[in-house]
Amino acid sequence: MEASSFTLKPWSPCIFLCLLAFQTLLASFAAAETHYHEFVVEAKPVKRLCRTHTIITVNGQFPGPNLEVRNGDSLAIKVTNRAKYNITIHWHGVRQLRNPWADGPEYITQCPIQPGATYTYRFTIQDQEGTLWWHAHSQWLRATVYGALIIYPRLGSPYPFSMPKKEFPLLLGEWWDRNPLDVQRLAQFTGGAPNASDAYTINGQPGDLYRCSKQETVRIPVESGETILLRIINSALNQELFFAIANHRLTVVSADAAYTKPFTTRLIMIGPGQTTDVLLTADQPPAHYYAAARVYQTAQNAPFDNTTTTAILEYKSAAACDSKKGKFSAPVLPSLPAFNDTATATAYNVQIKSPSRVQIPTQIDNNLFFIVGLGLINCTVPNSPRCQGPNNTRFTASMNNVSFVFPRTTSLMQAYYNGIPGVFTTDFPPVPPVQFDYTGNVSRGLWTPSRGTKLYKLKYGSSVQIVLQDTSIVTTEDHPMHLHGYHFYVVGSGFGNFNPRTDPAKFNLIDPPQRNTIGTNPGGWVAIRFVADNPGVWLMHCHLDAHLILGFAMAFLVENGNGPLQSVIPPPADLPRC
Ligand code: C2O
Repeated sequence: MEASSFTLKPWSPCIFLCLLAFQTLLASFAAAETHYHEFVVEAKPVKRLCRTHTIITVNGQFPGPNLEVRNGDSLAIKVTNRAKYNITIHWHGVRQLRNPWADGPEYITQCPIQPGATYTYRFTIQDQEGTLWWHAHSQWLRATVYGALIIYPRLGSPYPFSMPKKEFPLLLGEWWDRNPLDVQRLAQFTGGAPNASDAYTINGQPGDLYRCSKQETVRIPVESGETILLRIINSALNQELFFAIANHRLTVVSADAAYTKPFTTRLIMIGPGQTTDVLLTADQPPAHYYAAARVYQTAQNAPFDNTTTTAILEYKSAAACDSKKGKFSAPVLPSLPAFNDTATATAYNVQIKSPSRVQIPTQIDNNLFFIVGLGLINCTVPNSPRCQGPNNTRFTASMNNVSFVFPRTTSLMQAYYNGIPGVFTTDFPPVPPVQFDYTGNVSRGLWTPSRGTKLYKLKYGSSVQIVLQDTSIVTTEDHPMHLHGYHFYVVGSGFGNFNPRTDPAKFNLIDPPQRNTIGTNPGGWVAIRFVADNPGVWLMHCHLDAHLILGFAMAFLVENGNGPLQSVIPPPADLPRC
């Protein structure tokens, strides 16, 4: 055998040059890139649950394309609307610093892209890495219009855990056998609860436990012994979900594109809007195992979809054996908690923490207390088709007793930027207008909120604490609350009414998790903190679309600062017109 170290010598100048060339190449890669994409929104027939349905897609794909970028990269996504509905796209969790124009919620930061029209979303990923996603933010179109947005670390900067062998995005979704927009319209007409979905899906597929679905069940191939990264996204419209993989433990390493202290768990609970990255080691006997998701349902007396979606974790050696024998061994199903197992959901949630000590505002400039939940509007006409809620009522929802009304003629951001009067007011109440026992027996006189397009003004750079308090009006419930344009720290949570004298002493100001979406405990509260360092109009809402359409939202108006990089950038020329 030739000793290569001897033959190396004459080559060393070349090695030096090669290294230099390689370094230059590396440097050019390390420089941030701009990714150009075309999103054509179009109707497309797809077959699910034995029948063909025409759904709205991006580029004919369901789910839509997964985008992969690096921290520091920019994106330019040209969206062309070839569907018959108005649409916008939201980049869920992207901070969009000084750039609300690219955020996407319709009538909040832009007018919708009308059929035939085009809008290019341009934005940069600034100091974020992990799993985010994108979805339609217009009506219930996000039922089928969504995809992953995966942000890798900058080149040369590693994950804070050993590099997994493979990665898989798993998008959990919800499927209706009807046009989701018809389901929405019917609910809005009758005032009753929307029809529950017919299936849950993983990457668009319901899986083995549904009719006519077995052929397309998603498979996650693994080799024995390897560790893979699963990027789990809850893109379901209206349901929190439990997720587990039979006989395997999951190590949570990131949530909402913020790393966490790793912890090992048998299952996760994930609310709509949230993402959770987990490591899985294929350390079980080679076979097939189900990855399964099923509902975590906290509202009382509400109909829900009680089915289970599955994918298959498939050990390659097992697959080879099976095909040789010409048969497949039936995968094992993981056991998932009961649909209403709040104890398990809570025990899971409290384990999520930042990896180390974080910088968190301790002096609070804006101390806000928002009560959130459903409500009822009494009808005067008996048995009206428009009053199919409980006892001749219509469902509604509110934050601090204001049911949010979306503008129709322009967006809030445009109204603010261009000084158009009469579109919104800035008197959103910092505390509930009436104080009562929020989680007790609430008198019927307090069940009907007022309506309005009310914003809450925040000074640039001021610190904010919001306690989000669920109420027992209609029902207590876990509401996944999402704030646009920000990441916040979840400093505390509890059950019952928040106690401002005793509860703050129990806050975690050391290593609280950073999130963009967090659930109120059912009949409880959650406290979040952030610094208002991103000027613009930013929507905060319940990420259950059934609640959003009832007015379960409010918006912050974060003023410009005085510094040179503290103002909203000018709007792009192609910003859609209403
Ligand atoms: Cu994921 Cu306002 O949305």
